[in-house]
Amino acid sequence: MERELTLELVRVTEMAALAAAQWMGRGRKNEADEAATNAMRTMFDSVCMNGTVVIGEGEMDEAPMLYIGEKVGNSAAPEVDVAVDPLEGTNILAKGLPNAMSVVAIADRGNLLHAPDMYMQKLAVGPRAAGLVSLDDPIEKTLEIVAKANNKRIVDCTVMILDRPRHQELIEAVRGAGARVRLIGDGDVAAALATAFDDTGIDICAGIGGAPEGVIAAAALKCLGGEMQARLVPEDESEHQRCLSMGIKDPSQILTMDDLVRGDDAIFAATGVTDGELLKGVRFRAGEIAETYSLVMRAKSRTVRFINTVHNLKYKPYYSLIKEK
Ligand code: FBP
Repeated sequence: MERELTLELVRVTEMAALAAAQWMGRGRKNEADEAATNAMRTMFDSVCMNGTVVIGEGEMDEAPMLYIGEKVGNSAAPEVDVAVDPLEGTNILAKGLPNAMSVVAIADRGNLLHAPDMYMQKLAVGPRAAGLVSLDDPIEKTLEIVAKANNKRIVDCTVMILDRPRHQELIEAVRGAGARVRLIGDGDVAAALATAFDDTGIDICAGIGGAPEGVIAAAALKCLGGEMQARLVPEDESEHQRCLSMGIKDPSQILTMDDLVRGDDAIFAATGVTDGELLKGVRFRAGEIAETYSLVMRAKSRTVRFINTVHNLKYKPYYSLIKEK
């Protein structure tokens, strides 16, 4: 993959974030998702790649755009797998809460796990604890390992967990071990990313969330030297069969970084839609000016760029504004 792709991809997430941000707090998550998806799809046309969506907005018959199998890019080499989440955190955005983002990850063709749309158990840690943890360990042991690796006391460690009834036992175990808990309403890609940045104060992201988000987060952590381990959680026989039909022979196996994102290269781009741990959300300023805050990284070089862009919306042909009432 050419390194120029990194900057092209950030233009894609910027435009999706700009489109989604107009819907912030309006309580209409589907419209927001659709706006982000349309914008992202349009921007992909100008990107120099021959991409196939492997993680997208759904199957061909349920998603008009960015469906799994859809071709994106201008068809020039390189051939890449594309994982998209034009609006990660649709509920967050609808309520105007923190941590909604637009995200894209790409890797050479065949290198991203074609994750079925089901739940996945995840454990994410930053670079210092990478290679030391196991999803099979009880959380108490993981906390000991991560605290030592991060040179902290367990009481100073923070675990980010989706606030769901299914996590009650996990939350109690973390509290019982003496660590702190940050519960989030949605958005576990941002939570996994946060483990790799000291400033966030997040040491571990654990729990069950969406499998597609798991692969996207793994691509991000590959760029940062962190680690994600995962296990699919098929909830019934049809989901189990779906894993098998997607080539995952043993759905109960631990998926390592290399299972989730093969090879040594991947590119990840994210633009904040609402304010988050790492990225500010879109700011709309006077005179139809908007500002975006993005992160773009490449696994091969481990370069991490934070990009602050000023957009003059009057000069963006692809950008369509919500009409004022
Ligand atoms: P959406 O943007 O598709 O709403 O996903 C948000 C999210 O919180 C993900 O970050 C997470 O992986 C998943 O939903 C958790 O699923 P559920 O809300 O069913 O617990």
